[in-house]
Amino acid sequence: MAANYDKVVDIALRRGFFFPSAEIYRGIAGVWTYGHLGTLMKRKFETRWRDFFLQLDDNFYEIDGSYILPQKVFEASGHLKNFNDPLAECKSCHTRYRADNLIEETLKADASVLSTQEIDKLLKDKKVKCPNCSKSDFLPTRWFNMMFDLRVGATGNETAYLTPETAQNPFVSFKREFSALREKLPLGLAMIGRAFRNEISPRQAFFRLREFTQAELQIFFDSAKIDEHNGWKSIRNYKLRLLLAKDAAKGKLTEITLEDANKKLKLPKFYLYHLAQMQKFYLDVLEIPREKLRLRELHDKERAFYNKIHFDVELNLETLGGFKEVAGCHYRSDHDLSAHQKVSGEKLEVFYENKRFIPHVLEISFGIDRNIFALLDLFYKEDSERSWFSFSAELAPIEVAVFPLVSKDKLPELSVKVYDELKDEFQAFYDESGSIGKRYRRADEIGVPFCITIDHDSLKKKDVTVRMRDDMKQKRVKIKDLKDHLCKLYCD
Ligand code: GAP
Repeated sequence: MAANYDKVVDIALRRGFFFPSAEIYRGIAGVWTYGHLGTLMKRKFETRWRDFFLQLDDNFYEIDGSYILPQKVFEASGHLKNFNDPLAECKSCHTRYRADNLIEETLKADASVLSTQEIDKLLKDKKVKCPNCSKSDFLPTRWFNMMFDLRVGATGNETAYLTPETAQNPFVSFKREFSALREKLPLGLAMIGRAFRNEISPRQAFFRLREFTQAELQIFFDSAKIDEHNGWKSIRNYKLRLLLAKDAAKGKLTEITLEDANKKLKLPKFYLYHLAQMQKFYLDVLEIPREKLRLRELHDKERAFYNKIHFDVELNLETLGGFKEVAGCHYRSDHDLSAHQKVSGEKLEVFYENKRFIPHVLEISFGIDRNIFALLDLFYKEDSERSWFSFSAELAPIEVAVFPLVSKDKLPELSVKVYDELKDEFQAFYDESGSIGKRYRRADEIGVPFCITIDHDSLKKKDVTVRMRDDMKQKRVKIKDLKDHLCKLYCD
């Protein structure tokens, strides 16, 4: 891991972004808690996500489904049969590893598409050592199902599962929502909620978790219209940054307009439109530098069992040593509704525009925790004097800090008054302890974009200093104009 990894994680733990759950009992690997700053930031991320994706179409809505669903749901979805990772177990110390990760880490090779036999051969031929005991003998690799099961009720006879993705809730709710929303397509059902996966080896702090939050949007549409979208004209010249499966080994990027991607790569317009919106969300809303993002096409063997077209959004994260997946755009075809219709016996086909058919699904899927970690990585800055997160005010957990220069001479009284006026409008905090320099450093360290300082002149002139986090420039602003001034800075 890169040097910054330790610094970012240290700030996260120390200042209250996130930390292992039940730490005082040593917790459970892959289960984390958002501290007060992390919670504020997560809430902001979710708001930005909702504001952006739910307004893409008037017929997109959010639901809030259950995390406990009956066994039949996952028989139908295929998770009980197919939601597996390869498990390698050391013959000597019996430490278990996710086999593809073990190969990736020890041999620096991609093993995501290998069969268990191929993995075994590679482990043997390359004499891969167990990172725990250094012996190089593994039991035959086997598949490990990642679902968490539960016994429901007093008899414990009924088996249920924790949802491994939010997606199943919109699928099993489709019939009701389609009817409640006057039977129109496309219909988008989003859900922001927890997902649970019994990952073999949760790692990279906040990146591979056993309990995590997803923001997903399932768009139900008529597959006969997959090569159209009513927003196409406005976006067809927009350029995507694609890493095509055929160029993956070379890492060669293709910058291509949607129009050309449609014609030359034969990717359908409905898919491309939404993939472009995901790129826009990262570049325009989160303000991620363009060169840090790529949309990677997964090849046949890598794709989840239900996906027909699959590009992942990957961000280049220094702390984790390269491009990492943070979101995906999945064309799931009619896999989900057909399977649920078959297993439940309920008709999920629709009668729409004089045709009877099963809608197809295009899925936009984000892991929120990964994105929060990625933002901390991408916006981490340091120089010889200080470190800071340079994220926008729209993402910063705390927006405004108010400081009296010293904690005497009536400065705290005026500062509290200023703070009271600001706190309804902004996420603000007040601090009068320690030197002003130390207070600036503490605010910078958690990414507070604006610091307000009240000094002796403020008493006479009724003004304050506004200090900007990134360039540390300062400006005097009249107290009566402060709210407007900050509002302008916030929107810039
Ligand atoms: N409904 C589709 C689905 O769940 P996925 O690629 O398995 O697809 C979607 O997951 C997103 O969820 C990923 O892009 C990632 O951001 C996040 N994610 C997946 N597994 C995760 C884990 N173990 N810990 C944290 N985030 C995870």
